[in-house]
Amino acid sequence: MVVGIFDSGIGGLTVYDAIKSHLPDLGLVYFGDNKHAPYGVRDADDIFQRTRDGIQILFDQPGCDLVILACNTASAVALRRIQERWLTPEKRVLGVFVPLIEALTEREWGDNSPPIEVEISHVALFATPASVASRAFQRELAFRAIGVDVEAQACGGVVDAIEEGDYILAEALVTSHVEALLRKMPLPDAAILGCTHYPILKAVFQKALGPNVKIFCQSELVARSLGDYLHRHPDKIGRGKGGKMLTTGDTLKVSQRATQFLKYAVQFEAV
Ligand code: DGL
Repeated sequence: MVVGIFDSGIGGLTVYDAIKSHLPDLGLVYFGDNKHAPYGVRDADDIFQRTRDGIQILFDQPGCDLVILACNTASAVALRRIQERWLTPEKRVLGVFVPLIEALTEREWGDNSPPIEVEISHVALFATPASVASRAFQRELAFRAIGVDVEAQACGGVVDAIEEGDYILAEALVTSHVEALLRKMPLPDAAILGCTHYPILKAVFQKALGPNVKIFCQSELVARSLGDYLHRHPDKIGRGKGGKMLTTGDTLKVSQRATQFLKYAVQFEAV
């Protein structure tokens, strides 16, 4: 089996890279729908259809029965509908929310006991406009934790700038989004980079937030959680080779952007 990794663009490569380091023998196929990024400004039906089509492209790869949705926007807006109405029993799609909420609340997803007090109380959430509008993060957190104040900032423009490789613009936008959030919540104790593109600019977020704010990124958490999942479901590991990188975008441009931040050469091909 190979594991498929999906994102609207190159942001999911932050998750891909962490999975590759954590599980070096696992076959991976990455698909970025770069032509249609950003998803965060699209409506729910559009995000659902594009995510479903992207997952299908990955399931069409030989030996791919498991897809990681390395996109918060797709996870927040489309995952439940995909799991309930579209997915067949032999296939699995895992989102990026579960490992993050587990880390924040220090309890397992399947733990259905009443919500508890957790270590953090003021959380700054940075995400795309569609993810923020879905309130999916607050909903999942409220099932498990009490007394946590979440202030969300929709970070318009950041994904576009990263996809275009315009890091000067991306950094300026991140700084201004952090300032906007700090005006609403002056002293957060934790920040969530709720879009897989944002860890590329983690240092910029940290600088703007100050050293005392603990930043939660999903890449490591998702990689570790996938390792646990495959440990519990060894039948899903298989012998797939993977190594393929697919995009709907301009293959040369996407390969250059990806190579720029991964700092090793990656070659995308057209789907
Ligand atoms: N990386 C995607 C996410 O995590 C970006 C969404 C977008 O394309 O706007 O939400």
